[in-house]
Amino acid sequence: MTNYSFIIVVKLLVIFLIFVSPKEILAFYDRFGGYAEEPIGPSSPYEVLMSPSLEAAPMPTQTTLLSAFEKTWEAACNHQGKSKFYVPGGKFLVGAIQFKGPCRTESTMEVEITGDLIAPTSIKAFPSNQWISFSNLNDIFLYGSTNLEGGGEVEAWKSCKKSKCDLVTSLILANVSNAIIKNISLSNSKGFHFRLQSSRNVTVYNVSISSPWDSPNTDGIHVHSSSFINITNSTIGVGDDCVSISTGSLDVLVSGTRCGPGHGFSIGSLGKVKNEEEVRRIKVQNCTVNGAENGVRIKTWPSSPPSQASDITFDDILMINVSNPIFIDQEYCPSGSCDTTSASLVKLSNIEFKNIRGTYISDFGVNLRCSSVAACENITLIDVNLNGSKTLKEKLQQEKFSTTGRLNGLAVFNSTFN
Ligand SMILES: *[C@@H]1O[C@H](CO)[C@@H](O)[C@H](O)[C@H]1NC(C)=O
Ligand SMILES: *[C@@H]1O[C@H](CO)[C@@H](O)[C@H](O)[C@H]1NC(C)=O
Ligand SMILES: *[C@@H]1O[C@H](CO)[C@@H](O)[C@H](O)[C@H]1NC(C)=O
Ligand SMILES: *[C@@H]1O[C@H](CO)[C@@H](O)[C@H](O)[C@H]1NC(C)=O
Ligand SMILES: *[C@@H]1O[C@H](CO)[C@@H](O)[C@H](O)[C@H]1NC(C)=O
Ligand SMILES: *[C@@H]1O[C@H](CO)[C@@H](O)[C@H](O)[C@H]1NC(C)=O
Ligand SMILES: *[C@@H]1O[C@H](CO)[C@@H](O)[C@H](O)[C@H]1NC(C)=O
Ligand SMILES: *[C@@H]1O[C@H](CO)[C@@H](O)[C@H](O)[C@H]1NC(C)=O
Ligand SMILES: *[C@@H]1O[C@H](CO)[C@@H](O)[C@H](O)[C@H]1NC(C)=O
Ligand SMILES: *[C@@H]1O[C@H](CO)[C@@H](O)[C@H](O)[C@H]1NC(C)=O
Ligand SMILES: *[C@@H]1O[C@H](CO)[C@@H](O)[C@H](O)[C@H]1NC(C)=O
Repeated sequence: MTNYSFIIVVKLLVIFLIFVSPKEILAFYDRFGGYAEEPIGPSSPYEVLMSPSLEAAPMPTQTTLLSAFEKTWEAACNHQGKSKFYVPGGKFLVGAIQFKGPCRTESTMEVEITGDLIAPTSIKAFPSNQWISFSNLNDIFLYGSTNLEGGGEVEAWKSCKKSKCDLVTSLILANVSNAIIKNISLSNSKGFHFRLQSSRNVTVYNVSISSPWDSPNTDGIHVHSSSFINITNSTIGVGDDCVSISTGSLDVLVSGTRCGPGHGFSIGSLGKVKNEEEVRRIKVQNCTVNGAENGVRIKTWPSSPPSQASDITFDDILMINVSNPIFIDQEYCPSGSCDTTSASLVKLSNIEFKNIRGTYISDFGVNLRCSSVAACENITLIDVNLNGSKTLKEKLQQEKFSTTGRLNGLAVFNSTFN
């Protein structure tokens, strides 16, 4: 660990600012000017450690209060040297915040968040659908023992059940390259917990994500239009997909990760709009799914315009108490009302399910619901050993292996379905 030769004194102030009311924060803000440290000049030989002195929840009236976090970030990001943004231990109520680049730092921009960050519970506190975002950055390292508490249970999930959901994603990486995200936790997000979009070469390691099984739309990690993404050694239990890999994603590896509760490891949903970019070279490996609705799944909407997903491997996956362990669903329709006039035109090809074992509790062991027009092509199962649950077997009509639609080149080797 680097020894920082320059540490900001006001760090201590933060510790006293736990859950103060917006009024108190404002007063404090006025007194100290938001943050108490100037960045050291460009020629300084010192390394800089930036620590926000306080944070304000957005005022209900949404006046333009530039938060201490933002000011500190600006200073740290513009420092032409080695720089680190540091949040000490404690609990901080933090409103919607954007950490924007590009930064002028010479080496990796380090962001260490030790204390827990707590989102305002009201959806109205969020001007857009995001809470904490990092964007337009190259070379960042985000880590710390923080838990990003989304507070979805207070209002957001309930509103979601009534009508449309107001989704607020807790953590977003957008247009970020060469990043490592390590050791952080996220819980009870209002919407997706962690979204990676238009990003490249990102490693997510030892990240823990949790929400109840019935929390709506709380995907764990959503990958969109991104490439060279590794999600490793993480634990995800949520109310929707543990990991969802969506359009434009290439070279994504998910490994050593546990899922459950949740809706499993998913590719998709695909084919919602026209001209979607393809999904390719996705691998989910050495993972465990425990107590989830699906194990591994590829989902495309009915009547979807043409696009494609190919070269997808699910390898070495243990299923425990999973409803649909292996599922290709080209008639995906979660709301129950979809345009079903025609088949999905999303072409799925070269999909391998390998060394997948364990038990399933309902519905289907293997369910391949392919498009009747754009056939699934080259689907291979090797060393798949799935057992239906003995206790439920009599009550439920379990189908061991079901296919619908068109399949060209289905091959099954060394597998058992009991
Ligand atoms: C993406 O981020 C880089 C800095 O890393 C920036 O130069 C570029 O303009 C950003 N692209 C977009 C589309 O915002
Ligand atoms: C990917 O990111 C890591 C960590 O930031 C970096 O060390 C590595 O050089 C990057 N790889 C490429 C090919 O840019
Ligand atoms: C992650 O946590 C482990 C175990 O506490 C620790 O050894 C490691 O240094 C941490 N890594 C970072 C980058 O904080
Ligand atoms: C993962 O991160 C947590 C802190 O968030 C730490 O306690 C744990 O030891 C880390 N594990 C590894 C293997 O790094
Ligand atoms: C992801 O892991 C694979 C296999 O270990 C490795 O080849 C690749 O470089 C890693 N990519 C990133 C972004 O870390
Ligand atoms: C994941 O973490 C375990 C310890 O919890 C460690 O033994 C293993 O090597 C790690 N895997 C990777 C790919 O780092
Ligand atoms: C598989 O994942 C587990 C964590 O779930 C890890 O401890 C182990 O090292 C991984 N094995 C391989 C071969 O990557
Ligand atoms: C199986 O998973 C469900 C959630 O899908 C959970 O309610 C149930 O307790 C689990 N059963 C066992 C035996 O773990
Ligand atoms: C499935 O059941 C058979 C026969 O009861 C047993 O030999 C096998 O180990 C089971 N496989 C799994 C993956 O549980
Ligand atoms: C399916 O596999 C065959 C034989 O390996 C190959 O020739 C064909 O190109 C594959 N189809 C697709 C769509 O990649
Ligand atoms: C199936 O198992 C046999 C015997 O263990 C092995 O020789 C063969 O290579 C296996 N086939 C595949 C496709 O893995």
